[in-house]
This record gives sequence, structure tokens and C-alpha cells, in this order.
Amino acid sequence: MDAFPTGTRRRTLVAATAASAGALALTACGRGGGGGGDTSDDPGVRPGEELAALADVPVGEPTFARTESGGEAFLYRSDETTVTAYGAACTHRGCAVQPAGDELRCPCHGSVFEAATGEVVSGPATRALPAVRVKIENDRIVAE
Ligand code: FES
Repeated sequence: MDAFPTGTRRRTLVAATAASAGALALTACGRGGGGGGDTSDDPGVRPGEELAALADVPVGEPTFARTESGGEAFLYRSDETTVTAYGAACTHRGCAVQPAGDELRCPCHGSVFEAATGEVVSGPATRALPAVRVKIENDRIVAE
């Protein structure tokens, strides 16, 4: 199925951030909060699930989104037609990252990630946030 209409908004990108306007208050530790080491990178976003309306994701502001099935990601619009998405759980021990300007910060041990790319800015996390493949379809941001 061709996900893109023949109009102007037709980009499909992979990334690692995500979400919908509103729910920006992620604070609790997620998966594997106690022990050491890394956690699963699966953000739980299923192909075909809607993450947000394009209009609810401001350009340059990481925006949290939760799917109907409970998948969580941060969405990042670098311009009018480019959206990337990344899992919302820190790759250190799974705490929920939070937006801070153009970064995503983990409240548990201080890791910082670039919102636009999901890459680690500073640890203890050593791995980027997992990319979630998304596309813009009829002004909605949908997982691929
Ligand atoms: S869970 Fe340790 S820095 Fe995020």
C-alpha cells in the first residue's frame, strides 16, 4: 500500500523520538528499573498504529505519543514534512525520558539524547533511543 498521497506531505522517515501533544509528563521508571544493564529496545509501537495528528506535533518540539495498544514514543518534526520517532524508554535502564528543549533527558541517572536523532548526547546510556518507523498519511503520523 502506498502510504503517501501525491501531495506535498509525503515523507517516510525512521527515527527515535515520539508522541502526541499533551502527555509530556513521563516520570516513572519503565522497564527494568532496578537492575543494571540495558533493557529491551522495543517501544511497543505496532505497524499501522496512529501516533498523533501532524498538527499536534510542533516543529522543533519533541512530542510524546502513546498508541492505543500502549506503545510509547517521542515524535520530532524537523520541518513541515519531516517526522522522526524514537522509543520513549531510556536505553540505560528503561526509565521514561522527558523533553527538554531539543533534547530528551532521563530523570533516573541523567542520560541525554538528541530529540531529532535519538543519539546519546551523554550517558550513562551508550545506545541511541530505538527508531520507530513512521510516515505521514492524511495529516496523521502513523507507524510503519
Ligand atoms: S535509566 Fe539510567 S540514565 Fe536512564
